Amino acid sequence: MKHLLSAGDLDRDEAVRILDTAEELLGVAQRPIKKLPTLRGRTVVNLFFEDSTRTRISFEAAAKRLSADVINFSAKGSSASKGEGLKDTALTLQAMGADAVVVRHGASGAPHRLAHEAWTKGAVVNAGDGTHEHPTQALLDAFTMRRHLTDDSANGTGADLAGKRVTIVGDVLHSRVARSNALLLHTLGAHVTLVAPPTLLPVGVDTWPVKTSYDLDETLEGTDALMMLRVQGERMNDAYFPSAREYSRRYGLDVARMNRLPDHGIVMHPGPMNRGMEISADVADSGRSVIVEQVTNGVAVRMAVLYLLLGGSQNQNEGTA
Ligand code: NCD
Repeated sequence: MKHLLSAGDLDRDEAVRILDTAEELLGVAQRPIKKLPTLRGRTVVNLFFEDSTRTRISFEAAAKRLSADVINFSAKGSSASKGEGLKDTALTLQAMGADAVVVRHGASGAPHRLAHEAWTKGAVVNAGDGTHEHPTQALLDAFTMRRHLTDDSANGTGADLAGKRVTIVGDVLHSRVARSNALLLHTLGAHVTLVAPPTLLPVGVDTWPVKTSYDLDETLEGTDALMMLRVQGERMNDAYFPSAREYSRRYGLDVARMNRLPDHGIVMHPGPMNRGMEISADVADSGRSVIVEQVTNGVAVRMAVLYLLLGGSQNQNEGTA
């Protein structure tokens, strides 16, 4: 694995390897001193052209816990706001010796260009591109599901999600999280159902490895993990549904709906949440919600990705030196 651009690039064994590595690394976060020397002397650049708090600090924490040097570049207030494009920014970072570039960009495909046009020699990690993909979010979601839904004492180590039923609800149209999850969960053997109003399902969804439904209520009883998506107001310039109230009534998760999940069913959300819109506050704070855990797991999963991309290539260099 040289880059992580799409959740669809991973085969089952590669994905399980990342999850197993994350399982080992999760222990580091529980120690008083949360640091490993693994990536000492290596440089990770966080290149964020689109606003993000949680994903950027998650990657930053992950890189720092592996002792890498971290450079945070956010487009606001930088030369990108003076019109410098992705290419020149990447060449600048390359000149500074970036070993990995974690990139978030408003344009779908930006990380692929960075990797394939070889504007950087480092490993490229897609941290969210437009409405396209967000592979590390899918990995942390799969990791969280595996810990809760597989009944192995080692938190599912070695296992995939074969036969698990995952329902993803809401603004699929604008969601890179939904696409990456659909691809990865399919690879891991899970059955995915997307639930959304017809206006919020993308054209071509029939080619995704999923089932679709317009009816949340009919899917609840057969769901092991229920993932609520944020309604992405900033990407909507049209009326996709009649009103916020109407959306919540049909597609929002309240306690009554949550109680129809099977006893072991978990509730997930990638954040940031619109409380009262796609998810009610009491569901978000309930015992079935694993939303805070997703954030914790995100650091371990990103550590695993950086470790496998950079640690692995370092070993190869040592081998050939
Ligand atoms: C997600 C994203 O940015 O794609 N959030 C995140 O990574 N923290 C989902 C979202 O914005 O709704």
